[in-house]
Amino acid sequence: MAKNEKLEREAKLVRKFKKFYARAQSDCCEVRGSIIHGRGVYATKDIDKESEVIEYVGEPIYKDISEDRAWEQYARAEEHGDAAVYIFKLDDKWDIDGNVPWNTARLINHSCDPNCEAWIIGRRVYIYSLRDIKEGEELSFDYGFDIESYEDHPCLCGSDKCIGYIVSQEQWPDLRRRLAASKESKVTA
Ligand SMILES: C[S@@+](CC[C@H](N)C(=O)[O-])C[C@H]1O[C@@H](n2cnc3c(N)ncnc32)[C@H](O)[C@@H]1O
Ligand SMILES: [Zn+2]
Repeated sequence: MAKNEKLEREAKLVRKFKKFYARAQSDCCEVRGSIIHGRGVYATKDIDKESEVIEYVGEPIYKDISEDRAWEQYARAEEHGDAAVYIFKLDDKWDIDGNVPWNTARLINHSCDPNCEAWIIGRRVYIYSLRDIKEGEELSFDYGFDIESYEDHPCLCGSDKCIGYIVSQEQWPDLRRRLAASKESKVTA
């Protein structure tokens, strides 16, 4: 490859990277140590209801690749004494691997009473406020985890509405039934 062509390619790559990096920036939140878990993302100013807070960026990947990535991230995190996986479920075919350091939104924790939600527009994910948020509040959204492995994901959100596990709110009626049944079987055992 000619030297000029190589330089041009590199410049194109740098421009692409800068654009990608800029998409992940936000002037209304920052990373801090969280009382819920590890690091979290906090509002640095008051945010109005239904505002775009930050974009969740990463590499779009097919589902079959994403499972391997999730296990790799899980194993790496466990080695360091914790467990954090940064895969965002996009649709039936695609996920986003958000494990890039400039993706601040990957550090937003789950809450059973979230102040944000993730909006999927095409293959892009935006975090929007669900209500007015005060400066200094930790940002959170419903991770929407499936009920099947709920026992693996105890919730520490600390909200009055906390159901005890990180499970999609849509599945709470089912979760309540399962929790009641499990309590019952412990009492009768
Ligand atoms: C994408 S990370 C979020 C950022 C994480 N706090 C960190 O420091 O890397 C997701 C992981 O954070 C933890 N987490 C997030 N919300 C939680 C909650 N409400 N209760 C307990 N752990 C939570 C779980 O370990 C989850 O797998
Ligand atoms: Zn909770």
